[in-house]
Amino acid sequence: MKILVTGDAGFIASHIADKYRALGHTVVSVDNRHKKPVDINDADGLMKLFMKEKPDMVNHHAAIAEVLKSVRDPLPTFQTNVLGTINVLMAAGACGTVKKFIFASTSAVYGDPKKLPVTESAPINPLSPYGLAKSMAEDAIKFYAKLFGFKYLIFRYPNVYGPRQNPKGEAGVVAIFTDLMRNGKQPTIYGDGTKARDYAYIEDIIRANAIALKKGTNEIVNLGWGAPVADQTIFDEIAKNIAFKGVPTYAPYRKGEVYKTSLSSQKAFAVLGWKPKITFAEGVKRHVCETNKA
Ligand SMILES: NC(=O)c1ccc[n+]([C@@H]2O[C@H](COP(=O)([O-])OP(=O)(O)OC[C@H]3O[C@@H](n4cnc5c(N)ncnc54)[C@H](O)[C@@H]3O)[C@@H](O)[C@H]2O)c1
Repeated sequence: MKILVTGDAGFIASHIADKYRALGHTVVSVDNRHKKPVDINDADGLMKLFMKEKPDMVNHHAAIAEVLKSVRDPLPTFQTNVLGTINVLMAAGACGTVKKFIFASTSAVYGDPKKLPVTESAPINPLSPYGLAKSMAEDAIKFYAKLFGFKYLIFRYPNVYGPRQNPKGEAGVVAIFTDLMRNGKQPTIYGDGTKARDYAYIEDIIRANAIALKKGTNEIVNLGWGAPVADQTIFDEIAKNIAFKGVPTYAPYRKGEVYKTSLSSQKAFAVLGWKPKITFAEGVKRHVCETNKA
């Protein structure tokens, strides 16, 4: 099968593209960070590429994936994550060969849910332009999938961590803390350490994207453990694996960030037969080990 993967110069989709190739599929790359860049904001360029390649499926991960950036300067996030997604959808519809559209959405669409673990029927209540833009992109996907007659599968990811995550960004606390501690530097915890999210190791997310090639028709599906991991636990777990003896600095909470969330993956199990396998303790151990080799 020919699968067009967007965002495959980045953390998550680079692993997915590798997995798809390993399964024997042909991957068409779309990322503005590649040597031959294709920007999802370039509607004409995208259209030409789709017309030339005629993919069977699209896996759309390209996005500005930073909550805090979206709070400071929202328009680029809306441009790329909403209008860019519409460009990908229009090109997918026009080329006439796409049968399914897989999309990386986020737990950020729920904001701070009233009930944990959050299920897919909980209200959409984002706290950041990033979360709002993802929710708008979800609506656009449902709309265009119906219009063009292809299937969709939308994943609402928890926080994903593992090798290839950028340790120099503002998001990706496991990568950031690991890098700092490895270099003997003191990580900063925003808040008192009780802020907590659901964390999934990259391998579990790749597995879901492999299953998505065969299962899941017109569904929105959470992925996650259903249990929040606190910032302090993240610090302690990484420190243990790196034998870091320091302590964190504590700073005020940042606007737009969710305080506590976790995602029920009961639907993912019912629809896809997917459950997370790699516990946080195991994932951190692997992350520290894998990134040490890099
Ligand atoms: N990492 C997480 O914890 C997490 C959680 C929930 C959802 N997601 C979503 O998963 C996807 C991948 O996230 P990631 O962590 O790998 O981020 P990433 O920043 O590593 O990857 C995103 C990729 O998209 C590309 N991109 C951005 N703008 C583009 C444009 N205009 N045209 C073409 N390519 C463009 C970037 O160059 C980058 O390679 C994103 O859609 C993100 O919102 C990630």
